[in-house]
Order: sequence, then structure tokens, then C-alpha cells
Amino acid sequence: MKSEILITGISQLVTAEGFGPKHGRTMRELKIVERAAIAISAGVIVWTGKESEWKGETEAIVDACGRAVVPGLIDPHTHAVWAGDRLADFEARASGSTYEEILAAGGGIRSTIRATAAASQADLVALGKPRIDSLIASGATTIEVKSGYGFTPEAELAMLEAIQSLSADSPARLMPTLLIHIPPAIATERSSYMSRVCEELISEVARRNLATAVDIFVEKEAWQVAEAEELFRRAKHYGLAIKLHSDQFHCIGGLELGIDFGALSVDHLEASGPEQIAKIASSSTIATILPGVSLHLGIPSAPGRKLIDAGAAVAVGTDLNPGSSPLFSISEALALSVRLNGLTVEEALVAGTVNAACALGINDTGRLEAGCAADFLVLQSSDWRDLVYTLGANPVRDVWIGGKKVR
Ligand code: NIG
Ligand code: FE
Repeated sequence: MKSEILITGISQLVTAEGFGPKHGRTMRELKIVERAAIAISAGVIVWTGKESEWKGETEAIVDACGRAVVPGLIDPHTHAVWAGDRLADFEARASGSTYEEILAAGGGIRSTIRATAAASQADLVALGKPRIDSLIASGATTIEVKSGYGFTPEAELAMLEAIQSLSADSPARLMPTLLIHIPPAIATERSSYMSRVCEELISEVARRNLATAVDIFVEKEAWQVAEAEELFRRAKHYGLAIKLHSDQFHCIGGLELGIDFGALSVDHLEASGPEQIAKIASSSTIATILPGVSLHLGIPSAPGRKLIDAGAAVAVGTDLNPGSSPLFSISEALALSVRLNGLTVEEALVAGTVNAACALGINDTGRLEAGCAADFLVLQSSDWRDLVYTLGANPVRDVWIGGKKVR
């Protein structure tokens, strides 16, 4: 066998194995190879194993110097493009107001929409870039980025175009999602807005390939189940995948609807109870949990432990956004999922790699196996568990994407 690059000196090579999401206790099954090597050709892994067992030829050797290597992390849920800030909300919440009260009074997400509308596309790209870079530095090699801070179809398109230019310029793979976030404040305008979304926006997004999935925030203060259903019918018609923000504050049927529509993932789940846990656990939909939100808003943590014990496939994301989760590190999100959601260290790695990839409908990354993209991290430590142990410092030393060291 021939390779272009051979990574040697790996103290531990750690990965989940095999195609598809890991449910329940299979989330704890990792393969750990000590004194390992990875052979790469044309950006793809061609071989992994014990270094002593490599029998091929290689053009170059890169020594990991006794450090652990894990798959590149996948952040399956971000809102990395926004303008303005939510410092006033943060201060008000620190003095006792709640996120839902601020939203109901016309602030919160709506204030970010106003600030984003006032920004040019070049501003949005310039604001998004350092946020994406910070996620990459924390270990993200694939990053989902949502629109959703627009009040018009035109503003949503402008956000998706900004995500497209960020993507063209980033070493990471960005996966764009059209998010229908919050209805217009005037009640009589919500049905006409949803009609424009369904009749004009979705077809345009599909035609121009600007998003791979459609997401909607189903919540008392946001969209209702019947509105989400209308959106999902349209999204399916155009071949777009479905995702949801659901059960963040109240369970009003969003999770159930998403599963009935075959959603790739239902995200948040802080308020999910036994019925919702049982429903998602017996489905192929990924349960994406977002510990940064519970930390920042002080709301209950999603029942990660119960979801896995019931057999669900759990993923973890940062939910990077200015209002509910100003968390710029995917490795820190995994570290928080161990503390706040009751995941084991093995489960956290699977939640941030193979299951997160499945939450985006992709299968060629998030594992260190022949045939997968050569997306991997060289950690600072010789022990991979440091990835989810460390708080407040970066456990990631080098980030490789598609066989290239990008930092
Ligand atoms: O995932 N809950 C709704 N949407 C985002 C928050 C967006 C914001 O507050 O700006 C979330 O938490
Ligand atoms: Fe979100």
C-alpha cells in the first residue's frame, strides 16, 4: 500500500467504528489502538492500525510525538452568523428576567434579527469568520450553521449567502441549514409569512442549493405544530432534510411531529419527559442536546443519561448563538455534556463525532477508518480522555481536515 502521509507516534487512536448512528449502550463502544499510525492519501484515510504493523510506503511522515488522536469533532448545531449583541439581555437575566419574558416583550431573538437586518453581507461574513475559526480551534472539522435571524425571505437568503461565502473560505466543512426561527410579532402576519416561506423561499433555497436542511423553532413563544407541519411538507417536497428546535421550554408536540416526518435530529429537549424520551429512543432521529444553553440560561439540562439508557442516539452541539449559548468551543460542549447531561466520557466522544455527523446526514467523517475523510485531532495529551476533562483551556493541539493540518 502507498500513502502520501503517515501519522506516527500516536499514543492512542480512539474512534467509534462502523457506518450509522450509535444508539444506547453502543455509544460506549470505542476502539482504542495504542502506539498507532494513520495512513492518508488524497485527503482520505487509507489505513489505521498499530504503527509496527504498517507495511506500506509513504511519501511523508508526521510524528504525533506520543499524543492521542481522535476523530475531528462535528458541531451539529450553531447560529454562528449574527450581528449585534445580547449583553443587555444577559444583564437583565442576571437580575431576574427570563429568556421567555424577554422574547415575549419583543427583545431577545427579535433584537438580534433587527441588528442582523441592519448589517451588510460583508459585515455578516466578517463577524462569522472568527466564530467559525474558534470552533475549528476547539476541534470542529464540520460545522452546521443556521440562518434564522431574518424576518423576510430576502433576509434569510442573505444569511445563507453569507454562510456560503464563509464556507468557501473556511478549511472546515460548513453545512448550511435554513432556520425558520420566530414568527412576526404581529399575529395577523404569521400565516402570510409562513406562506411566503413555503411558496417562495424553500424552492429558491433548494434550487440554489443554499441549505441541506430546514429547521423550525417549535415553542409556545415561537411556531406551533400545525405551522411546522406545513413547512415540513414543503421541505420534503423539495428534498430538504428536516431538523427542529423543540422541547426547550415546553413540550407542545414538536418532537413528535419531527419524528413522524423522519427528522434527521430534534434539538434541545431540556423539557422532554418520559413520553418524548421513549418516542425518540425508538426512532432513527438523533437527539441533539446543547449543554451550553442550560449553563447560560440556567434552565434544566436535557436528560442525556435517560435518553441513552432508553436507547436513543444522542449528539452534542454548541448551539453557538448570542442569546442562549455564547459557547465558542465544541470540545467544551462535550466536556459540559459529561457534567450537565450525565454522559460518560466515551458517550461524549461518540455524541461529538459519529452521532453528530448522522445529525447532519453525513457518514464519511467522525470516524478514523479507511474510506473516511482524514479529519482528526492531535490532542495536547497522551490520554484521549483529556478532551472532555479539560475546562477553560484548549485540549486540542493540531486540527487536520481532509488530510491537511489547518492549525
Ligand atoms: O437554539 N431557541 C431558539 N433559538 C436559539 C437561540 C437563539 C437566540 O437566542 O438568539 C437556541 O437556543
Ligand atoms: Fe439553536
